[in-house]
Amino acid sequence: MSPNKEFWSSSKGFVLAMAGSAIGLGNIWRFSYIMGKYGGAAFMLVYLAAIFLIGLPIMLCELSLGRASGKGPLEAMTELAPKRTTLSFFAAVALTLGAAAFAFKGMYFHAGVTGFFALGALLFGWGFLGFTVTFLTPLMIAVFYSVVGGWIIIYTIVSPLGKIFREPTVSAELLDNIVTASGSQYWVTIAAAAAFFLATAFIVMAGVQKGIERFSKIFMPIIFILIIVIIIRALTLPGAKEGLRFLFLPDFSKMSAEGIMAALGQAFFTLSLGAGVGIAYGSYLGKSSSLPKTAITIVIMDTIASILAGLAIFPLLFATGLSPQEGTSLVFKILPAAFGKLPLSPLWGTIFFFTLLLAALTSSISMLEGAVQGIMQKLYLGRAKAVILLILVLGPLVPLTAVSAANYANIPKLGKFFSETLQLRSDSFFAILDNTTCLWLMPLAGLMTLLYVSFVWGKKKAMEEMNCFNAFEWLFSNIWFFVVRFISPVLVIMAFLKGLGIFF
Ligand code: PFF
Repeated sequence: MSPNKEFWSSSKGFVLAMAGSAIGLGNIWRFSYIMGKYGGAAFMLVYLAAIFLIGLPIMLCELSLGRASGKGPLEAMTELAPKRTTLSFFAAVALTLGAAAFAFKGMYFHAGVTGFFALGALLFGWGFLGFTVTFLTPLMIAVFYSVVGGWIIIYTIVSPLGKIFREPTVSAELLDNIVTASGSQYWVTIAAAAAFFLATAFIVMAGVQKGIERFSKIFMPIIFILIIVIIIRALTLPGAKEGLRFLFLPDFSKMSAEGIMAALGQAFFTLSLGAGVGIAYGSYLGKSSSLPKTAITIVIMDTIASILAGLAIFPLLFATGLSPQEGTSLVFKILPAAFGKLPLSPLWGTIFFFTLLLAALTSSISMLEGAVQGIMQKLYLGRAKAVILLILVLGPLVPLTAVSAANYANIPKLGKFFSETLQLRSDSFFAILDNTTCLWLMPLAGLMTLLYVSFVWGKKKAMEEMNCFNAFEWLFSNIWFFVVRFISPVLVIMAFLKGLGIFF
């Protein structure tokens, strides 16, 4: 199979595309509600530790695997080293034990997911990891991301009219109707999610330079400017200080095992790790760029974006006397109410939702790229045909997830089957996709990637790929490899065990 023919036009273009993937709903919508749920600053500290001790090392692994292979995630895992090794066998055994532990605790769903991984690792070795990060994880995310993307499209369209800001009940009702896809909103919800999904697909169809890179280059700077506009507005409100305290003064009594798993999941989600993005985007990178510098820049940009989003959202909430503990609907229900208390609310609201929409699009394109690359290589198809195939296969899942975000009963005929026969009563497709990917698939793939780079691909090749230009980068790369081999995997395993309630 021949390597890629496409490349980024410049290193800067690549950094902006990777940052575009990283910075998205995860930084604004997900980060704010998860931080609200797990108690602010204490969560932030665990999250930052996860970003730098686990996230950054894994991102470097993914970028170097991608660039070394010059191919997407599907091929990178099978071509750089033997497919099945003793380690992949032991991984399968460990995963089987993990599945048994879940089953023993009555967590059958998790047992199923882990068991699936175990079987895959046994049969296909490292190739299975490639399959998961190329198709399974990113496409599952793309589906629920499109649903939220659809909600944002609706909010961006209704914001200039101002009604959702003037009457808080209107926004709450609008969200309820959109999320539950009830009444007249049923088709609106479907149409909006489909529009977001198709917009994503068309940008990917335009290609690496003309689609992904150009879109990210234009809109990433705009996103930062717009967030800063909102921060200035929020911080100049009386009472904004309370929000800063929530963000920066930790209260460790609020930190739970669940919070630690959530921080780890958030670190993976926000950096787009364990979903093949680093490998896919890295494969279009020329040999002359220094990987340490690029990865550090991307991680810092993403972290700044999350902190900026926190600085925009929490002071605004506290200054207007609203609670951060709202959950997934925080930016949709509570923020419009908060904007409503400001003069010129339609202006601030429109700026906010438009920013969110752009950030969501630069991320969602990265979820499809690896899969498109995989389809192009395996089926010998052109880019346009590969994207169309993806639309046909994945497309139907988008409306199903959109209308069942709150309730399966909204899916005609099949709803009963999901809720009664399969007993998927308490969760929606939406929650299943979100939880399975962020809490399990991404960290698990991240762990396997760390092991693959440390013990299968090996230090010599990994260090060569780092392409260091000075003594600092050389030192950094050596420390990186040490962390990849001995520290990050242990931390991920500890977090898993803690999540299972087995460890301290
Ligand atoms: N990093 C994106 C965000 O923070 O919104 C989400 C994401 C993008 C996750 C791409 C996974 C992925 F493959």
